[in-house]
Amino acid sequence: MADLTSNLAGIKSPNPFWVASGPPANTAYQAHRAFEAGWGGLVWKTIGDPTPNVASRYSGLTIGSRRMAGFNNIELISDRSPEANFRELAEVKRRWPDRPVIASLMVDTRERWHEFVNRAIDTGVDGIELNFGCPHGMCERGMGSVVGQDPAAIETITSWALEAASVPVLVKLTPNVTDIVVAARSVRRAGAQAISLINTVRSITNVNLDTFTPEPDVGGKSSHGGYAGPAVKPIALQMVHACAADPEVGLPLSGVGGVATWRDAAEFLALGAANVQVCTAIMHHGFGIVEHLIDGLSAYLDSKGFASLRDLEGRAVPNVTDWSRLDLNAKRVARIDHDTCIHCNLCYVACEDGAYQCIDLVDPAPHGLPPARVADRPVPLVREADCVGCNLCSIVCPVDGCIEMVPIETDRSALSWEQYQTGLAAGTISQIPPQP
Ligand SMILES: Cc1cc2nc3c(=O)[nH]c(=O)nc-3n(C[C@H](O)[C@H](O)[C@H](O)COP(=O)(O)O)c2cc1C
Ligand code: SF4
Ligand code: SF4
Repeated sequence: MADLTSNLAGIKSPNPFWVASGPPANTAYQAHRAFEAGWGGLVWKTIGDPTPNVASRYSGLTIGSRRMAGFNNIELISDRSPEANFRELAEVKRRWPDRPVIASLMVDTRERWHEFVNRAIDTGVDGIELNFGCPHGMCERGMGSVVGQDPAAIETITSWALEAASVPVLVKLTPNVTDIVVAARSVRRAGAQAISLINTVRSITNVNLDTFTPEPDVGGKSSHGGYAGPAVKPIALQMVHACAADPEVGLPLSGVGGVATWRDAAEFLALGAANVQVCTAIMHHGFGIVEHLIDGLSAYLDSKGFASLRDLEGRAVPNVTDWSRLDLNAKRVARIDHDTCIHCNLCYVACEDGAYQCIDLVDPAPHGLPPARVADRPVPLVREADCVGCNLCSIVCPVDGCIEMVPIETDRSALSWEQYQTGLAAGTISQIPPQP
């Protein structure tokens, strides 16, 4: 069985699944329950000067039958006293010496950072996470995402924490920036040991069309919140990759944002994360999901013949490149499996109105195709010569595997836009890029 132990900047955990800073990591009671269920580590709900919360504070986006596909919150950092938080952190560390516990902190002045880092370290925590990501409430007070949006502030405040820290310091970044790599490089310059990303994405999930107030409704008003859950995974994956691929960042990464299944976790690891953190999926389904995460990841590693997480970490990083380096001459076409097709014709409509009009509805018999399930109904057939291989039909098709995107050999050699431009300038190019 593959070795699931993970190592983030020297912080070792029995598996790569950590509870992220948030409501499930608010008390010792919850931490005990998380570790009993099998979570590998936990980042405590952010501790700072206690701050009141509003009611209500969450809203969700349901897509089809999937509730909480996106999850928005306007909750702030811990509303409990630092004394209670630090006391319980120490209690959890005493009971679970083999599980890393990280104190997430957010305060304002240099003196307060020194004080809070020291108090956290006295509890026996394995690391400190600096919350530079909260995009609501705290940023209006000069903390959270306003720090993560200002590279100079990231560098200064990280260095304040490092002045007092004797355990690894993780900096948790906000995705609400133009280029995450700029923020990540300033974490590196400051000398922190690792980066966690992402915190939540600024959002308004919906508007009540009777009251005209978005949810969550706080006495008739609302405020933008932070978006999390499955909907943000693509944003988080891109940012993890961007940091993993940048040689100037060069720091271990903890991947956060939309992890709900072992596949999500494996994708984060493949794109360069050393572990993952989970918040929304626990709020939705409870700590018990870790069993499925561990079993699924373990079975996947075994099926690939990977001995440990190290064999997976970063494996997909080199396969993401700039668009200008992609091969313009690589060709793929859509091919329909007529035995599994249910003749819903969604692919036809999508290609006809949203793509390149190269799926025909044909009488099956003359083409040697099986008849439609409904008598006399035409069936879809791709005109492969005209298909540009955009993928749309295979994405809309409701039958898994029914439309395959098949690579096609051509007589054109590989040619990227970058090579095309260089060749044009040098007068050595004889090909032109393919046109639809
Ligand atoms: C209700 C709620 C409260 C959160 N509170 C914190 C917090 O106190 N500190 C922090 O660093 N992140 C906080 N987060 C952000 C999460 O740690 C995480 O970065 C984000 O939710 C994305 O992960 P997910 O999709 O697994 O939820 C909170 C998230 C939610 C949903
Ligand atoms: S891949 Fe795109 S162009 Fe080709 S058949 Fe499908 S929708 Fe049409
Ligand atoms: S979308 Fe899929 S199932 Fe529906 S007609 Fe097209 S190939 Fe068949």
